[in-house]
Amino acid sequence: MPTSLGPEPQNGLTLWFTGLPCAGKSTLAAQIGQELLARGHQIEVLDADALRHTLCKGLGFSRADREENVLRIGRLCGMLGKYGIISIAAVIAPYRQIREQLRASIPGFVEIYVKAPLGVCVQRDVKGLYAKALKGEITQFTGIDDPYEEPQMPDIVVETATSDVATCCQTIIAWLEQKRLIVSADVSVNGSERFSRASSMI
Ligand SMILES: Nc1ncnc2c1ncn2[C@@H]1O[C@H](COP(=O)(O)OP(=O)(O)OP(=O)(O)O)[C@@H](O)[C@H]1O
Ligand SMILES: [Mg+2]
Repeated sequence: MPTSLGPEPQNGLTLWFTGLPCAGKSTLAAQIGQELLARGHQIEVLDADALRHTLCKGLGFSRADREENVLRIGRLCGMLGKYGIISIAAVIAPYRQIREQLRASIPGFVEIYVKAPLGVCVQRDVKGLYAKALKGEITQFTGIDDPYEEPQMPDIVVETATSDVATCCQTIIAWLEQKRLIVSADVSVNGSERFSRASSMI
């Protein structure tokens, strides 16, 4: 007898892009989202900036609020995973312990470290926030006056200061294909091969 009205649980897949501000998380998450859509996967891109206006509205940048921010997005990833949807999260998630909590609680959690030296990120300063943080106009900014705890054993590392967007995406896609977590590019959307969501293979 089913115990809830939801679907039979499926092993989900969550691609969590973590890294400093301006490391390239949103850029890569969007690209990977497009690639997986083209392969026929159902995906949801969860970008921290957008979610701070909705799911995470009202949360600030204290340690407690940052943790809650990450955990809320993580819960959503877990829920979407039950429907076979691939969640693609672009969220700094600066604290190692919380990322480990995500790994322990979300089936098919893949930690992707979007790595770039702080100096490169400061130079990119896409939103002008590093400049503000360096002038003291804003506080609690990751990399300046708030810590970023580097992943110690990420599943995938992409170095965005030395590899372009296409190369970083290839690295990620190749890893997912090698683990048989996504369909290969040469299988049509309506082809006979089913998606492999074997989170146990991670
Ligand atoms: N290999 C690369 N991968 C991703 N972005 C790159 C790469 N090389 C250069 N960039 C550039 O770096 C910038 C990264 O900005 P992006 O908004 O993606 O960062 P972010 O990590 O999402 O930052 P934030 O935490 O502030 O949201 C973009 O301007 C992008 O074009
Ligand atoms: Mg971003």
